[in-house]
Amino acid sequence: MKKNIFILNLACILIGAQFLTAQEEHMMHMKSITNRAVALITPTKGNSIHGVVTFEKTEKGVHVIAHLTGLTPGKHGFHIHEFGDITSDDGSSAGGHFNPMNMPHSMPASEKRHAGDMGNIDANETGNAHLDYIDSVMELDGDYSIVGHTVVVHQKEDDLKTQPTGNAGPRIGNGVIGITK
Ligand code: CU
Ligand code: ZN
Repeated sequence: MKKNIFILNLACILIGAQFLTAQEEHMMHMKSITNRAVALITPTKGNSIHGVVTFEKTEKGVHVIAHLTGLTPGKHGFHIHEFGDITSDDGSSAGGHFNPMNMPHSMPASEKRHAGDMGNIDANETGNAHLDYIDSVMELDGDYSIVGHTVVVHQKEDDLKTQPTGNAGPRIGNGVIGITK
């Protein structure tokens, strides 16, 4: 009888351990793999910009595709900012540029840059803008993931050198980056 109880206990422990391991693996899996993310851009107060930015993992980096409308013609600073908070009228609640590696502000092609430095998006004479490039610095997974942070579009051009913002002026639109399928 004692032996039977012992075996039963042992079986329970083993099954329990196995269940935990599978659950832990599932949790880790869920945490670690994000292939696509998206941000819906809405205007800050007094502006009329709208659009969608998608981020897709590829072998060479993150494929960024942006379609925006309602801009003034010309270049507009285009960044990922630190906080996933767009509750302010003027975009200020999104904080500064997303910079988990403590780098200087720079251009997207630079290796030493803020993770959120996407440079500029260029609008045509009708106010439509399209950007499509592969970003080799930003990440969709891990501690430095852009998910949960905010895409910000600025009124002015990012000069790609003024610290720490690129002197791109007011924030005309923003959108929090979320995981998508
Ligand atoms: Cu910005
Ligand atoms: Zn920056």
